[in-house]
Amino acid sequence: MLRRTLLTSAVAVPVLAACVTPTTGAAVDPMAPLPADNSSHAQPAVARVTHVSLDLEADFARKVMTGKCKLRIASAPDAREIVLDNDNLVIRSIKANGRDLQYTVGERRPTLGAPLTVQLDGADEIEIDYESSPGASALQFLEPAQTASNKKFLFSQGQAILNRSWIPTQDSPGIRQTYDARIVGPADLKVVMSAEMLTPNGETAGEGKRAFRFRMPQRIPPYLIAIAIGDLVHHAVTDRTGVWCEPSVRERAAYECADMGNMMRVAEALYGEYRWGRYDVLILPPSFPYGGMENPRLTFLTPTFLAGDRSLVSLIAHELAHSWSGNLVTNAVWGDSWLNEGFTSYIEDRIGEELFGIEETRMAEVLSWAALQQTLQTAQPAQTVLHQDPAPGADGPPSTIVYDKGAWMLRTIERIIGRNQIDTYLRGYFDRHAFGPMTSEWFLADFRQHAVRGDAALEAQLMLDQWVYQPGLPSNAQAPVASGFTEVDQAVQAFAGGGAPAAAWANWNTAQRQRYLQTLPRELSRARLDALQAALHLNETGNSEVLFDWLALAVRNRYQPAVPALETFLTSQGRGKFVRPLYTALMGQGDWGQPIARRIYARARAGYHPIVQAGVDRIVTPA
Ligand code: BES
Ligand code: ZN
Repeated sequence: MLRRTLLTSAVAVPVLAACVTPTTGAAVDPMAPLPADNSSHAQPAVARVTHVSLDLEADFARKVMTGKCKLRIASAPDAREIVLDNDNLVIRSIKANGRDLQYTVGERRPTLGAPLTVQLDGADEIEIDYESSPGASALQFLEPAQTASNKKFLFSQGQAILNRSWIPTQDSPGIRQTYDARIVGPADLKVVMSAEMLTPNGETAGEGKRAFRFRMPQRIPPYLIAIAIGDLVHHAVTDRTGVWCEPSVRERAAYECADMGNMMRVAEALYGEYRWGRYDVLILPPSFPYGGMENPRLTFLTPTFLAGDRSLVSLIAHELAHSWSGNLVTNAVWGDSWLNEGFTSYIEDRIGEELFGIEETRMAEVLSWAALQQTLQTAQPAQTVLHQDPAPGADGPPSTIVYDKGAWMLRTIERIIGRNQIDTYLRGYFDRHAFGPMTSEWFLADFRQHAVRGDAALEAQLMLDQWVYQPGLPSNAQAPVASGFTEVDQAVQAFAGGGAPAAAWANWNTAQRQRYLQTLPRELSRARLDALQAALHLNETGNSEVLFDWLALAVRNRYQPAVPALETFLTSQGRGKFVRPLYTALMGQGDWGQPIARRIYARARAGYHPIVQAGVDRIVTPA
């Protein structure tokens, strides 16, 4: 339908900036062309949701969100119906102006859900009375024992296609929507959302209940609608940044987040005005399945971020960077998610370089390069292409491709055209396409128009099409070097040759420790692992990234003394990036590892988020 053909120079890039109000993008043509998104049932050429208005109550007893959702709709002149996404929602009625509308729910497909087709009957606003199902994939209702404050907690995770399990809207990243919400919850808890909070202290809403109201006037892709409800306090870092958390983690959170003001300043100096008003982060309970999630105005963070030494603050740099790459200019389809994550990983390093210096950044780049090389050696070539045409609901390529290969394309462009040029280009790119969708093809056309400008020699040097459409790495990619790893690599050599564990360990930063653990010989005897544990106290490390690398090495070598630490790690947090590979490693260790995996998972499963449960269910199979 609207899918554009793969032609290079003649591609018309939809430039939205001309008709956009600078900060909200509210005036854009709501029917601008979009590529086909096979992860959504929406038919955006016929009718599109432009605004979502939620009036919901969080029912902790039944673990559902229940209430009403009003949708404002823009449609083509001859449109009769709108198709929404819906995953196991219980629909009670759909009305327009008080009159019932006809609707049908089609066949449900796993993860994709079912199309909800509503006969519009001329309406441009409809009201859906509904509730989510108890197993909604976007929602996790936590028991008091799973939180720091020993109170109930709820949070949502929308990316990529989970929000359809609690919001009946068009769940496609190209279909931008503004939203507002009124959310009722238990009176002793606070509601926060990825939006401006209109009622800081809430309003009474009946016996034992409180209501909070929100509004998001910027048009956002619907996966960025997010909610959390819990015993939450706010700690201001600067006048426009701060951290939300449960009261007992306030001190640690405040310490870890102290750099947020500087980060904002650096990011804005690079890529222009931050367009979302406030920037807060929210520290979630340990079952949060990701390191971070860039919900606008309110980044969601894993509590494993609280390392105690600010060593993982690049997580905030990453999520903040999404305020430009991802939230402002958004992949129109998930097969182009490198436009969100690859750009963001590049920007994360640019922010990091300003804040912590070039040497730290080089080390991060070397780790990223090594992970990328490993994927390139093991993955199917088709899985190493940046632009993907994913099957609906499929996992997509490994994150090293989306994040690291994607970032490497921009670093290569930077090296070839120069830092000033790429900065100028990216600033213009974010302005031209603010609050709009992006595809690989549109990006390449835009880059050629504004940066290559017909320079044939430069075009040849950049190898742009190869980067985006071919497997592997183009020949113009250059391995990074970090002088801070020289002594680490020497220490690895020494240990591999029978010497002692690294004497300098105590002075090393997180990247150096990761480098050490990632490059030690993969096969180590019990005695050698004992030596590492005795000298470096690895089972006791509080840094989740370092602990993960150690536990992976330990499992690989069936190192029994690490099992208690492994069990604690797997039962005290539920971040998919850590949890999935460790269970996979255990299951790969036959009679030794499989019983351990099954025993730990039996204890841990209930605490994991539904999407992590689904992943680990496939890994830890019954005996
Ligand atoms: N947007 C992602 C998280 C995500 C990716 C959620 C895909 C759902 C599907 C977020 O910005 C992210 O990349 N988080 C990383 C941390 C980052 C520092 C690499 C994570 O969670 O590990
Ligand atoms: Zn990201």
